[in-house]
Amino acid sequence: MYRALSAIVFFAGLANACQKDWDALARRSHHHQEHNRHAKRTEVEYPPSLSETESILVNSFDNTSISEWSYYYTHGDHLGSHNKSMAEWTAQKWRDAGLDAWLEEFPIWVTYPEACTREDFQVLMDAGIELKGKIALANYGGIYRGTKVKNAQDNNMAGCVIFTDPLDDGEVTEENGYEVYPNGPARNPSSIQRGSVRFSSLYSGDPTTVGWASSWNSSRGDTKPYNPSIPSIPLSMKDALPLLTALEGNGVSAEKANRSGWQGGFSNITYDSGPTPGALVNIDHLMQGYIAPVWDVIGVINGTSPDEVVVVGNHRDAWVIGGAADPNSGSAILVELANAFGKLLAKGWKPKRTIYITDSPVSILGSWDAEEFGLQGSTEWVETHLPWLQTTTVAYLNIDVGVSGPRTNFDGSGEIQTFVVEQMKKILYPEGYGDFATLYDMWFNSTKGTISPLGSGSDYASFYQNGIAAIDIGSSNGKKDPVYHYHSNYDSYHWMSTFGDPGFKIHTTMGQFLTLIVYHIADDPLIPWDLPHAATVLSSYLSELNETVITSNSPDLDLTPLAEAIAEFTTQAERISKIGQQALAFNDTNMLGVVNSKYRDFPRGFASAGGLPGRETFKNIISAPGIDNGYGADVFPAVTDNINGGNQTAAEEWIEKSAEAVLRAAEILRITD
Ligand SMILES: *[C@@H]1O[C@H](CO)[C@@H](O)[C@H](O)[C@H]1NC(C)=O
Ligand SMILES: *[C@@H]1O[C@H](CO)[C@@H](O)[C@H](O)[C@H]1NC(C)=O
Ligand SMILES: *[C@@H]1O[C@H](CO)[C@@H](O)[C@H](O)[C@H]1NC(C)=O
Ligand SMILES: *[C@@H]1O[C@H](CO)[C@@H](O)[C@H](O)[C@H]1NC(C)=O
Ligand SMILES: *[C@@H]1O[C@H](CO)[C@@H](O)[C@H](O)[C@H]1NC(C)=O
Ligand SMILES: *[C@@H]1O[C@H](CO)[C@@H](O)[C@H](O)[C@H]1NC(C)=O
Ligand SMILES: *[C@@H]1O[C@H](CO)[C@@H](O)[C@H](O)[C@H]1NC(C)=O
Ligand SMILES: *[C@@H]1O[C@H](CO)[C@@H](O)[C@H](O)[C@H]1NC(C)=O
Ligand SMILES: *[C@@H]1O[C@H](CO)[C@@H](O)[C@H](O)[C@H]1NC(C)=O
Ligand SMILES: *[C@@H]1O[C@H](CO)[C@@H](O)[C@H](O)[C@H]1NC(C)=O
Repeated sequence: MYRALSAIVFFAGLANACQKDWDALARRSHHHQEHNRHAKRTEVEYPPSLSETESILVNSFDNTSISEWSYYYTHGDHLGSHNKSMAEWTAQKWRDAGLDAWLEEFPIWVTYPEACTREDFQVLMDAGIELKGKIALANYGGIYRGTKVKNAQDNNMAGCVIFTDPLDDGEVTEENGYEVYPNGPARNPSSIQRGSVRFSSLYSGDPTTVGWASSWNSSRGDTKPYNPSIPSIPLSMKDALPLLTALEGNGVSAEKANRSGWQGGFSNITYDSGPTPGALVNIDHLMQGYIAPVWDVIGVINGTSPDEVVVVGNHRDAWVIGGAADPNSGSAILVELANAFGKLLAKGWKPKRTIYITDSPVSILGSWDAEEFGLQGSTEWVETHLPWLQTTTVAYLNIDVGVSGPRTNFDGSGEIQTFVVEQMKKILYPEGYGDFATLYDMWFNSTKGTISPLGSGSDYASFYQNGIAAIDIGSSNGKKDPVYHYHSNYDSYHWMSTFGDPGFKIHTTMGQFLTLIVYHIADDPLIPWDLPHAATVLSSYLSELNETVITSNSPDLDLTPLAEAIAEFTTQAERISKIGQQALAFNDTNMLGVVNSKYRDFPRGFASAGGLPGRETFKNIISAPGIDNGYGADVFPAVTDNINGGNQTAAEEWIEKSAEAVLRAAEILRITD
């Protein structure tokens, strides 16, 4: 039992929450990467023409079946470790489709409640406000919630209350005349966003086994460095109102602070910081922690080559009984995806990489458990099977919140991007969401063609951080769409079928999209990577790093080693790309084998410089979650972290190490005559 009694102090985040930070996307798109954008729709062939196999896969998706799977997943408690029968049901569904499927159990450390950016803190300190011993009041939005708690802890505060503000809801608010859920698309004022507050930018997985696999007999470490030491609770906007009202007229006003996100969405509240003399908040906070089993479901379609593997997955556990969007829109899609491949298997199909000396890839469906506790199911699985995964995995494809609205997005590794964009052009977009003929048109409209690097926040993290190419796909709500009640009890089947995706048409579309991605990576004679594009993406990240350097306290940092390494990578990328195309044209099976193995292996080079400083399980020098953000990604994170930390010597060291890692990737790509 923890009890703190103190005055409260308000902190603001930026605009939009985790679901998809459209503002952050717009900033990234605005900032750079002109050359990383994809063309507008004029190029799109309409109606799209599909091969016979593609048609079988795409036409296999049935909105009514998906609705049935969604209904199943959203009608029982399935917090991590709570529902083994749901794991068994999933495995059985995949078996029914013709896959091999089994459960893998991991005993992990779980904690249950029985129940702000750093600059914002600086504004208060500059105004002479004493933070020690007070309770922080922070709104959701912008950075990861756990980072807000960490910032409060680092400033010696006693606790942290995080509330939902109507600012997250774009135009769809009660004040703008929309009815609230369940009668309308606006947020129900009592909606509470649950969520982990572990320090996810420092590690992922079981915090008692950071860097090794969890089993019943594994040794376990101290969780202290990875978990907050102060209590925190989430509040609904209804319950936050009295606290915000109590702060009126005290401390720093939102206007004076002049910080993005301080002025929230209640037009009658001035969002003053406080503290208010005499205003007290009493946090009663009861937690328990113990080791409990969670169950990953693993399904397999054997190819003929055991040394090439494609992994596609999402997580299954949800904070609430529902979880219709997060994560079970993805779960429902994966059942239907298994059924689609089942149709091909029934015709005697095998993934086609017969060109290889040692045959074809293996496609694995992963249904992760305990993602919400900190990506535990996926991380422990990766840690258990790491040597095999590093030897064999061509790519990891993640779908999490497959559908929480109509706006398509995807993030991920440079070499995969071009091919994924091409698949979107083959998928029709449902009517009723504006005049978008194909998924590509919807995606382009939502993102202006911007594709971000991977940070953290979903199960791709442990794959990508071990040097495995990865993408993350999903679709979310924009500022004019029905409000998605993220991590709240209102993320229900009723919400999904009435507001989020009536008719399950977007589920169908996203499933078709993911299926074509899996099919081509698993079966194309040449793995469909665009290496010259990967090189262009690296160059754009270098420009982004350069901007960080120029505006930092060490503007003279020399990025030449990195620029030279990227130039060498570009040379090898262009070369192997040409060789790959030729091998394809001449059906040169030996050369295709060589190129494919290099396409599979080269990203391991990016993870070859050892752990990033202060977070050993993050190894990818290309991108990692921003330490102060937690959701969004920093590029060349080890360099960026040291620049932000003011350690120029270490920044120089990591420019060298990052350059060497890029050179190792280039060396893997190099084909000797
Ligand atoms: C597991 O989930 C299923 C489907 O939602 C539900 O029917 C069942 O009651 C749940 N089991 C437990 C133990 O909560
Ligand atoms: C630890 O447990 C795993 C199964 O979880 C088992 O395979 C292994 O043999 C055990 N090791 C020891 C040293 O008991
Ligand atoms: C508020 O900050 C912005 C930059 O973030 C600046 O352009 C603007 O002038 C500031 N406004 C005031 C009133 O200080
Ligand atoms: C501010 O507006 C909200 C609804 O938007 C209302 O519930 C609340 O009572 C108002 N507060 C004050 C102090 O008027
Ligand atoms: C798939 O491959 C594994 C390992 O090679 C083998 O044990 C399993 O029986 C195969 N499954 C099928 C359905 O062929
Ligand atoms: C997206 O679509 C809206 C509505 O059709 C349109 O106003 C807007 O210009 C489009 N934006 C882009 C980037 O295509
Ligand atoms: C599936 O789509 C059809 C055709 O649009 C529609 O009639 C049906 O209601 C949808 N099924 C569900 C469960 O929404
Ligand atoms: C960084 O930016 C400066 C100023 O625009 C430019 O002169 C320099 O060449 C850039 N360096 C790299 C490595 O891109
Ligand atoms: C390429 O060669 C392989 C083996 O020599 C053969 O099985 C395959 O059918 C050929 N593919 C094409 C497209 O000709
Ligand atoms: C800077 O980082 C290096 C490690 O690269 C470390 O040895 C040194 O103590 C750090 N300097 C400061 C001031 O933290």
